[in-house]
Amino acid sequence: MSNNPYVTELEFAIGLARRAGELILEASKDRQTGKGTTVNDKKNRIDLVTETDQAVEKLVAKSIKGKFPDHKFIGEESFAAGEKADLTNDPTWICDPIDGTTNFVHGFPSVCISIGWVVNKVPTVGVIYNPFLSQLYTAVKGHGAYLNQTTRLPLSYPDQLPLNKLSDALVGVEWGSDRSKNVMDKKSRSFVRLAGDPNEVDGGVMCHSLRSMGSAALNYSHVAAGSLDLYWEIGCWAWDVCAGTVIVREAGGKCYGRGGKAFDEDGSGKDLMGHHFFVIRGIADQDGQSGSEIQDRLAQEFFKNVA
Ligand code: IPD
Ligand code: CA
Ligand code: CA
Ligand code: CA
Repeated sequence: MSNNPYVTELEFAIGLARRAGELILEASKDRQTGKGTTVNDKKNRIDLVTETDQAVEKLVAKSIKGKFPDHKFIGEESFAAGEKADLTNDPTWICDPIDGTTNFVHGFPSVCISIGWVVNKVPTVGVIYNPFLSQLYTAVKGHGAYLNQTTRLPLSYPDQLPLNKLSDALVGVEWGSDRSKNVMDKKSRSFVRLAGDPNEVDGGVMCHSLRSMGSAALNYSHVAAGSLDLYWEIGCWAWDVCAGTVIVREAGGKCYGRGGKAFDEDGSGKDLMGHHFFVIRGIADQDGQSGSEIQDRLAQEFFKNVA
């Protein structure tokens, strides 16, 4: 971490994520009594929010205000309570207090806090912490991505995990909370193409399998680690992906926006503040093609055949 100009922001975010993690664990122990886990629904009966989501976001927002009074803040629950979520060039923290609320409510240990820090609309520091598994993913732009601050990501060097075809991929997808007929029709068509045998399914890829772990930020973490090859979701928000964007990129992965276009190439922050996300892990150069070209080719194939 030498020469890291953002060591203050990184260490602050790590400390905050750990405190938030304690709060989340404490609340989950109270699941039997319902304390901290009282569930309300937002837009529909499966878009859940608990008292703990709100308490963690309060802690995060207050701590940021105390430490960096000039910085801006965007958080899922503040937005839900009516605050604006406009991205400017000012240093801005973008936070999801609990990513994986449905998992939290059910005691499924795929739950994290996600804290991203953006400067000039570029995600620059990312911290994702799963307190149930004691897994801390961190990255600073230009300074690498780490698991638990010691293990450099990806966990396996991409040479050991060649990837050249979508059909060899393990793919992260999510069900999301919009279950309207239109959305479900589109989604299921894509899922069937991804998983289906090309001899029987039009556009079929038959990738190795699909995974759905209920947390966008943890999908990003797994792509950064190299244990998931790609992740695709339409319907996420900046707080789901901001920290993950730094972590994936620093681990050699690539991010794409709507239709598989390079993510925020124009520096506008539009893709970060949008709802279409596709990420692919780091891939080693193969047969005269660079890893980056292979990533782009697979992304284009994905959007042509599947999405
Ligand atoms: C959700 C999770 C889920 C994804 C949704 C997100 P939440 O976040 O990341 O995996 O499918 O798009 O909204 O509500 O648990 O913070
Ligand atoms: Ca939510
Ligand atoms: Ca989320
Ligand atoms: Ca959330």
